[in-house]
Amino acid sequence: MRIALLGGTGNIGEGLALRWAQDTDHEIVIGSRNAEKGMTRARDYRNRLSEHGVEADLSGTSNTGAAAGSRVVVTSVPPAYAADTIEAVRDDLADKAIVVSPAVGMVRDETGFHYDAPEAGSIAETVAAATPDGVPVVSAFQNLAAGALTDLSNELNLDVVISGDDAEARNVLKKLAEEINGLRALDAGALANSAEIESITPLLINLAMYNDGMHDLGIQFR
Ligand SMILES: NC(=O)c1ccc[n+]([C@@H]2O[C@H](COP(=O)([O-])OP(=O)(O)OC[C@H]3O[C@@H](n4cnc5c(N)ncnc54)[C@H](OP(=O)(O)O)[C@@H]3O)[C@@H](O)[C@H]2O)c1
Repeated sequence: MRIALLGGTGNIGEGLALRWAQDTDHEIVIGSRNAEKGMTRARDYRNRLSEHGVEADLSGTSNTGAAAGSRVVVTSVPPAYAADTIEAVRDDLADKAIVVSPAVGMVRDETGFHYDAPEAGSIAETVAAATPDGVPVVSAFQNLAAGALTDLSNELNLDVVISGDDAEARNVLKKLAEEINGLRALDAGALANSAEIESITPLLINLAMYNDGMHDLGIQFR
């Protein structure tokens, strides 16, 4: 399967790219607004992986080049740009593409981080409004810290909560998440439930901030 990480040059894009490249045989494509930056970052990731003995199928290009032909397209960009980013590639999306939103709307004040819901209710629903009709949007990966993924020696043992209106697309993402060693994917139903998932992330960051030794915190439901 070809997986595009739009803005895959950043933190969560790097983490997901490294883990999928390490743990699966999928083709990973790093997208960027600047194709050269995408290629450079992809080379960095390949070098990191080869230090771990992994010869990865991982390349870099523009966001549009990454989206073209990809079954899964992850909008791994800051929340304010997620809708524009999917709009910029809407003509390049493949038949049967699934768009994945890992974004969280957050604000920070002197007390800590707080969930900042957009008008649509969640960032995933904002992305869905910008995605062509018929292309399913799945919300996933909001509660994973990039640092936990990029440290390849770190055992994850974490849950990923998935929501979306298309059950088949949710299943594709569930399998894809669980192909990363140490992740369990849980189905949270419709995309309207994404706000609750997204709003967990500021809590995780506040816990990491106020408690020693808790950086890169994730969740596990028991
Ligand atoms: N960081 C985490 O631990 C984490 C965990 C879970 C979820 N998330 C979510 O994942 C998303 C990305 O987070 P991140 O920390 O990876 O972000 P980031 O590193 O700050 O940015 C990711 C990429 O977004 C692109 N970008 C920056 N400004 C942009 C703009 N104005 N328009 C379009 N693209 C732009 C850049 O790629 P190019 O310059 O190459 O285009 C950048 O490398 C966020 O929505 C965040 O809520 C993050």
